[in-house]
Amino acid sequence: MGEVAEIRLGDKTIELPVVVGSEGEHAIDISKLRAQTGYITLDPGYANSGSCESAITFINGEEGILRYRGIPIEQLADKASFLEVAYLLIYGTLPKREELEGFTESIRRHTMLHVDFTKVFTALPKDAHPMAACSATVGAMATFYPDSLDPRDPSQVEVSIHRLIAKLPTLAARAYKHSVGQPSMYPKNELNYVGNFLHMMFGNPCEEYEVDAVISKALDLLFILHADHEQNCSTSTMRLVGSSMVNLFGAVSAAINALWGPLHGGANQAVIEMLAEIRDEGMTGRQFVERAKTKDDTSRLMGFGHRVYKNFDPRAKIIKKACFDVLNQLGVHSQMLEIAVELEEIALKDEYFVERKLYPNVDFYSGVIYNAIGTPSNMFTALFAIGRLPGWIAQWRELHQDPTFKIGRPRQVYTGPTETSFVPIDKR
Ligand code: CMC
Repeated sequence: MGEVAEIRLGDKTIELPVVVGSEGEHAIDISKLRAQTGYITLDPGYANSGSCESAITFINGEEGILRYRGIPIEQLADKASFLEVAYLLIYGTLPKREELEGFTESIRRHTMLHVDFTKVFTALPKDAHPMAACSATVGAMATFYPDSLDPRDPSQVEVSIHRLIAKLPTLAARAYKHSVGQPSMYPKNELNYVGNFLHMMFGNPCEEYEVDAVISKALDLLFILHADHEQNCSTSTMRLVGSSMVNLFGAVSAAINALWGPLHGGANQAVIEMLAEIRDEGMTGRQFVERAKTKDDTSRLMGFGHRVYKNFDPRAKIIKKACFDVLNQLGVHSQMLEIAVELEEIALKDEYFVERKLYPNVDFYSGVIYNAIGTPSNMFTALFAIGRLPGWIAQWRELHQDPTFKIGRPRQVYTGPTETSFVPIDKR
């Protein structure tokens, strides 16, 4: 028998099995605790609770390590393409050349939207946030593809996966075009995944759009860095919603909404707005950092801090370097980047941030790159969603392939009134 943990409740001692992960992480399995004792565990925000066993992504927050399927993020960032990483996450291994070609070709051939999506977009107000539009239109995919809604049918799941990866960039670019009142662009099959997205975002029907290799490479890198991050808020949403056996489109639509919030993926938009505010109000970095230390959630130093990383977020290190490289290659001078560097330098030496182990996270520098390549700030989180989609899908697939699969259903400790009699309306 492996390691066990003991819990003492009154005069009873209960033994609980300990599960050990492949990187040595220890967890006490409390799944039978209530049946044995009547007690549940309480962990608001799940800061100390594992919701699943997973073989997809490993994070060591103390040492700043991130690996997809065992491969360090630094190597993937340096050597892989986004679709290669998507395949790795979803199917578990790096694709052989012909597998990658087949996958890429299938994605390429699913990028077009059903013509009736025009009606869906027409129904959305012009200033709809792209994340709301993405969530709504991904949800609407379930109405267009009733032939691929069964999560128990592997061939239906497979076609939904390809449709989602292929069409989310088309939907996101179309949401943007809708918001600026420009005609939407058809996908172009001669372009690669990222090039095609750039063409649909920044091109227009009146002239040929030439994909800039520096911008395309930078975006591919950003997608790789965002592709998975184990059980974060949107991924846990994907698993929880997916555990009801809803179709893949419904679960991705929910995950997009979870990502939108400023404490999660929406932080990239919040960071650039913070940098713009500092610039426009002529504040010094020090003044803003002091404000961020006050106990007021709205003035947090956005792009700093992480639930898991108590050291440098390895993605932030890669993005910071890419930020300098890209701006340099594009010949762009960015005041936003200067302000970001100043904020980082001040915060990393400030006792408040040091004590709480708050470091720059993935969102701190990504917005500066998006901004430099001409992306409007309300599209930043939609780009995060395109990058994160393979991770959501991989986690959903793993959940459904788990022999111990169960619907997700946490418990609670009830703190409301005990039984109280109904009072008729004229006696209240
Ligand atoms: N600026 C100022 N203070 C902060 C910050 C920040 N960015 N982040 C955390 N703190 C403080 C917080 O006030 C608390 O202080 P105290 O112990 O005195 O009450 C302490 O640090 C711990 O913070 P917490 O909110 O309890 O930590 P958490 O693990 O629940 O939250 C977080 C993590 C990412 C939500 C938080 O650090 C935050 O709000 N950061 C800013 C938003 C952001 O950048 N989010 C993106 C996260 S990474 C990418 C992603 O998930 O999409």
